[in-house]
Amino acid sequence: MDTFQYYNPTKLIFGRNTLASLEQEVPVYGKKVLLVYGGGSIKRNGIYDRTVQLLEGKGIQLFELSGIEPNPRLITVHKGIEICKTEGIDFILAVGGGSVIDATKAIAAGAKFDGEIWDVITKKETISDALPFGTVLTLAATGSEMNSGSVITNWETNEKIGWGSPHVFPKFSILDPVHTFSVPRDQTVYGIVDIMSHVLEQYFSVSPNTPLNERFAESILTTVMEAAPRLVENLEDYQLRETILYSGTMALNGTLSMGMIGDWGTHKIEHAVSAVYDIPHGGGLAIIFPNWIRYNLPATAPKMKQLAIRVFGVDPTDKSDKEIAEEGIERLREFWSSIGAPAHLSEYQIDDSKVDLMASRGVINGKVGNVFHLNESQVADILRMSL
Ligand code: NZQ
Ligand code: ZN
Repeated sequence: MDTFQYYNPTKLIFGRNTLASLEQEVPVYGKKVLLVYGGGSIKRNGIYDRTVQLLEGKGIQLFELSGIEPNPRLITVHKGIEICKTEGIDFILAVGGGSVIDATKAIAAGAKFDGEIWDVITKKETISDALPFGTVLTLAATGSEMNSGSVITNWETNEKIGWGSPHVFPKFSILDPVHTFSVPRDQTVYGIVDIMSHVLEQYFSVSPNTPLNERFAESILTTVMEAAPRLVENLEDYQLRETILYSGTMALNGTLSMGMIGDWGTHKIEHAVSAVYDIPHGGGLAIIFPNWIRYNLPATAPKMKQLAIRVFGVDPTDKSDKEIAEEGIERLREFWSSIGAPAHLSEYQIDDSKVDLMASRGVINGKVGNVFHLNESQVADILRMSL
């Protein structure tokens, strides 16, 4: 294992009817609260009304920022920062999926920062403080509810960049599986792919002696793969929603990475695709991940072989490591296809015309991947394999 420190101060409030805990959690931080949400799903499923009712009952003065985009944009983050500064906001409440939470993290940071928040996101500047915020998660996918990461898109420059700071852990996150009942089938699938991809990014570490991390990772993958096919046919099954929601948080709250460094190259490549074509994150990952593993063979073979045998049920008898690994990659692709995830960029009408632009966006902050260090032409190769 590598040396490590683990720090995660987010209070997780999980289970049925937990929204009511807003009454205890929010007033601790003040009276002026900015409610941040997306394009209206929380108005259609009733979460908005219940949230407002609970907070107004506690004498909270509510301000609102709606319209956070999937793949949240810098321009919208600026609007939130402006509201926080002019209204003297005490606390932000993010109600939505990963995009709403990620935008909230950037707003919370920007509200306490005198310069341009994009300079923080692009790591030219660092923050020393942020407004406190909490979340009500409505979609199982990113893990943003219990980590200090955020991904923001600058649409003007076609850059989608991940950043993080210990100052942007949510103070609390409320996770009620019922809040995810209304997530449509396609978004449910993208979330499942994202959760599995977070596990895979960490699994393809080369840090030595990480048997417990690997078993944790395999157990999340196995659990998700058991629940996912049933969930996509029963979108309002409480127990299946519960399993996926808990898996999503555990996949990216730092637990799996204790003592091992993940690669995250596939995420960087996907972010470059989304920055140019604005496709759903999980859809892009489903297309790119199997190709990333294959492109990096034979270096990925030992871990892929182990995964193939332990998680995908590949029979290793009389097969070379490479053959076992390749069979595992096929099983991964087949599983994602079986629940309705895309396999080719052409399914999003993406052709080869902007492969070079995407590859250049991928390497904008240096080589892609903490383990495999891909250069621009290698990223372009993987994108071409993905067409
Ligand atoms: O905007 P609304 O109307 O709320 O609709 C959203 C949106 O259209 C909808 N939705 C959310 N909850 C719903 C619902 N619809 C019905 N019922 C509900 N209960 O789903 C759509 C997608 O939402 P979004 O928040 O964009 O999805 P997700 O949670 O997958 O977040 C994706 C973003 O997170 C970033 C991605 O790159 C992408 O920008 N990531 C953030 C990470 C992090 N902070 O740690 C890690 C991830 O790897 C990822 O990169
Ligand atoms: Zn992801």
